[in-house]
Amino acid sequence: MHTSRFLLMLAGLGVAGASIAQTAPTATITVQVDKPGAPVPRNMYGLFFEDINFAADGGLYPELVKNKSFEIDSHLLGWKALKGAAELESYVVSSDRPISKVNNHFLRLSTKKAGPDAGFVNEGFRGMGVKQGDEYTFSVYARRGPGNITDLNVALEGAMGEPLAQVQIAGLTSEWKKYTAVLKPTATVAKGHLKLTIGGTGTADIDVVSLFPKDTWLKRENGLRPDLVQLLKDMKPGFLRFPGGCIVEGMTLDNRYQWKETIGDVSSRQPMINRWNKEFKQRYTPDYYQSFGLGFFEYFQLAEDIGAEPLPILNVGMACQYNSAELAPISAAKGPNAAGAADEPTLDTFIQDALDLVEFANGPATSVWGAKRAAMGHPAPFNLKMLGVGNEQWGPQYLERYEPFAKALKAKYPALQLVSSAGPSPDGANFDTASKRMRELNAEYIDEHYYARPEWFRQHVDRYDKYPRTGSKIFAGEYAAQSAGIASQENKNNWDCAISEAAFMTGLERNADVVSMASYAPMLAHVDAWQWTPNLIWFDNLHAYGTVNYYVQQLFSQNKGTTMLPVQLPNGAKNGTDNLFASAVADDAAGELVVKLVNYSAIPRAVTLNLAGAKKMGKVGRAQVMASDDLNTQNSLQEPRKLAPQTSAFPVAGTTVSYTLAPNSFTVLRVPGRR
Ligand code: AHR
Repeated sequence: MHTSRFLLMLAGLGVAGASIAQTAPTATITVQVDKPGAPVPRNMYGLFFEDINFAADGGLYPELVKNKSFEIDSHLLGWKALKGAAELESYVVSSDRPISKVNNHFLRLSTKKAGPDAGFVNEGFRGMGVKQGDEYTFSVYARRGPGNITDLNVALEGAMGEPLAQVQIAGLTSEWKKYTAVLKPTATVAKGHLKLTIGGTGTADIDVVSLFPKDTWLKRENGLRPDLVQLLKDMKPGFLRFPGGCIVEGMTLDNRYQWKETIGDVSSRQPMINRWNKEFKQRYTPDYYQSFGLGFFEYFQLAEDIGAEPLPILNVGMACQYNSAELAPISAAKGPNAAGAADEPTLDTFIQDALDLVEFANGPATSVWGAKRAAMGHPAPFNLKMLGVGNEQWGPQYLERYEPFAKALKAKYPALQLVSSAGPSPDGANFDTASKRMRELNAEYIDEHYYARPEWFRQHVDRYDKYPRTGSKIFAGEYAAQSAGIASQENKNNWDCAISEAAFMTGLERNADVVSMASYAPMLAHVDAWQWTPNLIWFDNLHAYGTVNYYVQQLFSQNKGTTMLPVQLPNGAKNGTDNLFASAVADDAAGELVVKLVNYSAIPRAVTLNLAGAKKMGKVGRAQVMASDDLNTQNSLQEPRKLAPQTSAFPVAGTTVSYTLAPNSFTVLRVPGRR
């Protein structure tokens, strides 16, 4: 559209910001376009993934059958024998001539009376979400025993037993064989289940029962849930941190996340209890296990798919310090008299796992671990550049283990950038000691975590103004405002939290020379199976939505720009004075200046932006605004975009922009112009 016509239209619509009578006095904000700062790190805003809240099984990893191989220690978890006219004579979890050594339990069904109820139901992950007309690949390993089993009947049903799709698998032999079929449901349901029954009389063995949607991300076999991946990709994430979080550490060292156990043939991956299973009494989740169908290969592939740098975090020989706090002995200290069992892993085991991971990610297809990556379908390296040494560890035990760990990695891979931990708190003695030591050791990134009340975020907007400008960079690796209290199960993903995070993030952006990476945490939560709140994205078995916090993160990430620009509030006031927060960057590639403004007050606020020294100015800018009078506003499955960015245009007069910020708003102004 011609610019002058467009401006006339703007005037007619009155779109240059909120036009409400009661406003605070106009605030003049100067953006020193002619005094650019450092480049904004390319991958500044990223994602934190942890298998918490059913984020993997039941979430991103769309296998519909729970405990598909009967390998969970409670072998029939997720399965229930049918009760009916032709009940099974017996059923047993057997290990008699299993499929393989690693997959050595299966379900043996026997019946003397043929009928429709001779079998089992799998409940899925809080039910099975299936869509009408979509295709689902069913597969099973099966064989016949004594008797005359004619076939295996597979039925997908709705919550009340409504038939949705069925298929018969005939021709079982006395040897294990994989059978597949495609099921196409006749209706969409969120809480279906899968029924397996045997036809005829006799005995049949079944194992590795799978029902997997064909509609996965990039239509991959063993692929991920596409709506969730799309939400992640839409964040334009700079990095993907995985697999956690405390899950890296485990409740005990035995229960730690071991990446080598999560690669290769999916049906051979051994399930393990999820460390969040019994963490919170009020959110006890006894059926929470990890199938590792989503394993390290899939994490690297996901990072690549969504354009994010992979950032694996590895165990540093320490189990969760909130749980057992178990420690792997440092090898030098291990001798004949050292405590612990002979087969207890020493720190060397953990270091070797890390070295092998780098080879798995980056090594040539001819190397031992690179060959495994290539065999899984990715001969090209994943180009891993960063690695986290321990999750949220603290204390001398961490520092003692970090040093040899980092030394060994750097000796073999000098270019690898390491992320080190400053512990769970953003201040205090442990934080200070760790930060000081990590700086002495020239750690590339120090991982700081803050779960705090919303006001903490607004009050600490200047946190990084005081940090040293050289040496270690900061990775704000886990943060989220907590509306009720830290880790409270009453916490909400509301606007008060999100706008406070936006305010704080203006402080991150103003200090992008110090803060290299930032990620909100945790990332995903199933509405029926969560342990922790708040979270970035919520989902059920069919749908997902980004929280108001998600859209704040997305606005920062999508408008990250390329070069920092200094910003001055009226009369040299500190960022955040009178609840007005601001930061600015130049987007050199787009030829635009980007100003972020947070008005945390119940009245509109007029601002005049003075874009000092800006060149090649255009006449029309683009505003993206999130605003709500109600700080309790939340998105939901029913109203997924109740509060999401709204785009409008505004006029630009030379190097000046006049704009009125709406009450309780976060505004991103993109102004055509260059530095
Ligand atoms: O994000 C939830 C948990 O918070 C993470 O697992 C842990 O690192 C932190 O304490």
